[in-house]
Amino acid sequence: MAKQSSSWIMAMQKKRWALMVLALFSLSTAMVFFMRTAFDSCSAGAENGFGEGKEREAGANSVGRVQIEEPNPLEFMKSKLVLLVSHELSLSGVGSEVVWITNQKPVESDEVIHSLERKMLDRGVQVFSAKGQKAIDTALKADLVVLNTAVAGKWLDGVLKENVPRVLPKVLWWIHEMRGHYFNGEYVKHLPFVAGAMIDSHATAEYWKNRTHERLGIAMPKTYVVHLGNSKDLMEVAEDSISRRVLREHVRESLGVRSEDLLFAIINSVSRGKGQDLFLRAFHESLQVIQAKKLQVPSMHAVVVGSDMNAQTKFETELRKFVSEQKIKDRVHFVNKTLTVAPYLAAIDVLVQNSQARGECFGRITIEAMGFQLPVLGTAAGGTMEIVVNGTTGFLHPAGKEGVMPLAHNIVKLATHVERRMTMGKQGYERVKERFLEHHMAHRIALVLKEVLRRAKSSGNS
Ligand SMILES: *[C@@H]1O[C@H](CO)[C@@H](O)[C@H](O)[C@H]1NC(C)=O
Ligand SMILES: *[C@@H]1O[C@H](CO)[C@@H](O)[C@H](O)[C@H]1NC(C)=O
Ligand SMILES: *[C@@H]1O[C@H](CO)[C@@H](O)[C@H](O)[C@H]1NC(C)=O
Repeated sequence: MAKQSSSWIMAMQKKRWALMVLALFSLSTAMVFFMRTAFDSCSAGAENGFGEGKEREAGANSVGRVQIEEPNPLEFMKSKLVLLVSHELSLSGVGSEVVWITNQKPVESDEVIHSLERKMLDRGVQVFSAKGQKAIDTALKADLVVLNTAVAGKWLDGVLKENVPRVLPKVLWWIHEMRGHYFNGEYVKHLPFVAGAMIDSHATAEYWKNRTHERLGIAMPKTYVVHLGNSKDLMEVAEDSISRRVLREHVRESLGVRSEDLLFAIINSVSRGKGQDLFLRAFHESLQVIQAKKLQVPSMHAVVVGSDMNAQTKFETELRKFVSEQKIKDRVHFVNKTLTVAPYLAAIDVLVQNSQARGECFGRITIEAMGFQLPVLGTAAGGTMEIVVNGTTGFLHPAGKEGVMPLAHNIVKLATHVERRMTMGKQGYERVKERFLEHHMAHRIALVLKEVLRRAKSSGNS
């Protein structure tokens, strides 16, 4: 059991509760990343942190506003007490954090140390320190307890102790991980007894079903798949042709590329699991094909957003060595990791989602790129397959080395067929408008919460 270095209760004012619920759900995912946790979404071996973190921030920024135009699907949550537990456990073993969110009256205030918590404060969520008994009492009183991420499972025994069985029937477990070491009784042994599990993609849900069964011999509880949605802030930029043009010009100038050049970008934390190495190989192959076939295309560039020389020194050194050996330095641009992706999405022409092995849990950057009318070239794995329609909003290629040539050919296809590229971008945008917006996510979450609350209540009565 990792030591709990600090813990917080976030209390929010009741009247704003309904407006906050969705924000909390988004924030809860953001939190995990902000606190630089052991959370890695799904791709095996990938250091996550950055990629999804910045994505989730975009998601978190505006959620509070979604309800202005239409009836809030989460209105029914108004009078409910929800406890949200987000467990941080850093890989280095530095410590862990437990976050509780309730709409109860604050008891005492405490210092806010993270920018995320600052954001919550900005929204009227208050952050309070809490220890043992308060947490237990809140859990017992709550209508719903949301465990965010698999590792939060440790909190059950660690804090609730003998009260665990009373709390389990009202637990909704929100799982984003897809890595082997989470299939460990220490984390998930209570999973079969909770009211429900909520998972970001069907692929991840299937994987959990399989692994819990095969490795631990336990069954998953009732499982709901809730795809994520693009934040309003992001869509506002994406749909504003002036901002888009300004950002595009600015970024292109900073990269030293011309407005007519063709940019293929991979936007993710640089790590083997995210497949930047294979992308660069495919990019290089595509240049060879174009040269061999004497195809007429604009000058092509590859952009790798998510560079972190301090964290991924060996892997990045390898990437840079490849680039200089192949003499494509003038065509490959490394951009340091950043929390702001919109300018890059505005500046590029195609997004490459090259996550390896089991792929992304969901891969928020994919829907963000589609919001910007970009076609996506993605690995046929994980959540990407639930977002990208092969041949319509982009093309899929296999993960691993065998995906290098197919990806190279897809790059060539999009480079040579301008019309097709544009159409795919538009179709991607339409798909986002149909199913990957904030309000879609709010509706999906609302359905899950209603059912879980109903089940929690009926088990409480029995
Ligand atoms: C789980 O996955 C393995 C391979 O990944 C497969 O062989 C097995 O049949 C799957 N089991 C279930 C219950 O789906
Ligand atoms: C990118 O990060 C490296 C260290 O990781 C730093 O030395 C460099 O100055 C950064 N570049 C920019 C443009 O911020
Ligand atoms: C995607 O579509 C192409 C044809 O457009 C096909 O060759 C390829 O096998 C498909 N890939 C997947 C994963 O469906």
